[in-house]
Amino acid sequence: MSVVEEPAQVDGERLMQFVFRAVDEVGATLNTALVVMGDKLGLYRALAGAGALAPAELAERTGTAERYVREWLNAQAAGGYVAYDPDSGRYSLPPEQAVALTDADSPAYLPGFFQIALGSVIDSPQIADRARSGDGFGWHEHVHDVHEGCERFFRPGYNAHLIAEWLPALDGVVAKLERGARVADVGCGHGASTILMAQAFPSSTFAGFDYHEGSIETARERARAAGVAARIHFHAEPAAAYSGRDYDLVTMFDCLHDMGDPVGAARHVLGTLSADGTWMIVEPNAGDRVEENLNPVGRAYYAFSTLLCTPASLSQEVGLALGAQAGEARIRDVVEAAGFTRFRRVAQTPFNLVFEARP
Ligand SMILES: C[S@@+](CC[C@H](N)C(=O)[O-])C[C@H]1O[C@@H](n2cnc3c(N)ncnc32)[C@H](O)[C@@H]1O
Repeated sequence: MSVVEEPAQVDGERLMQFVFRAVDEVGATLNTALVVMGDKLGLYRALAGAGALAPAELAERTGTAERYVREWLNAQAAGGYVAYDPDSGRYSLPPEQAVALTDADSPAYLPGFFQIALGSVIDSPQIADRARSGDGFGWHEHVHDVHEGCERFFRPGYNAHLIAEWLPALDGVVAKLERGARVADVGCGHGASTILMAQAFPSSTFAGFDYHEGSIETARERARAAGVAARIHFHAEPAAAYSGRDYDLVTMFDCLHDMGDPVGAARHVLGTLSADGTWMIVEPNAGDRVEENLNPVGRAYYAFSTLLCTPASLSQEVGLALGAQAGEARIRDVVEAAGFTRFRRVAQTPFNLVFEARP
């Protein structure tokens, strides 16, 4: 005898709540492109501190077309990014939005976050193809907005925490850096972290490594512009085979989980550290269990992980694909499997976990 299942009851009110939530999300998705547009065209910078402007004034100050600017402003006003005064027909940027959208030195600076998100979305049709085949998609294959957005997204957090909190949380490392230490920054991308450390510790020498040639070229330019090129040498070399030995400190910022063979990379770190050296691992903040990450930060990171981190790892040998939300327990497994004997969490922010591994 077959049992006929009753159709599940659909609650009309809940259905409409979900539909309206989706309207908000589609608006937010499109706003990612509008924020990048506002950043690239200088619209936020022109609005910041300028008081209330009419669309024509903003267009004139930025060399853009009034009709586009007016439509962009209305979308920004509807999303609460700019304030609109119906009496005067003018728009202004509230001071908090001005910091978050125009102050590149603020830890709250957001344009890079939107830029890497837009780049990820642009590449998403190719990721959908790879999801069918199971093949990977390398970091180097992405559009430039992913590479530059990544640099601009992470740099404010490193600015705020790296020198002031994370390095001092490591056992004895700051004293070594002040005396003059040998440092390798592996998976350095555009070198934001390497340059910050070089500026803070003029007696130390730094090597930055990344397998992506294009990122290394940009890192060299950034080091020249920052006036620290004499103490940083950037090399296009992979984490499992970078050059040099007897490093006092090896750092990896938001990249261990992107690697195909993080255990192989960890073994190489162990082989290139001095006997008393330290490996600092900065990873996205995540709990060990999926249900601990079902929150706004976890949502953004799982999405980046689907579009960037997991395909990046799958594109390389081994393809362990830890994912951006690996969590402390899996990172510890990687570190211990490579032969490190000491591992501890030394710091955290809402976005990052910081670990210390010692031989
Ligand atoms: C999310 S980005 C982080 C870049 C940089 N550390 C930062 O914080 O801005 C990940 C970086 O890891 C690099 N990467 C991935 N796999 C690598 C490997 N096997 N060896 C060296 N670098 C690797 C990528 O090229 C990319 O620059």
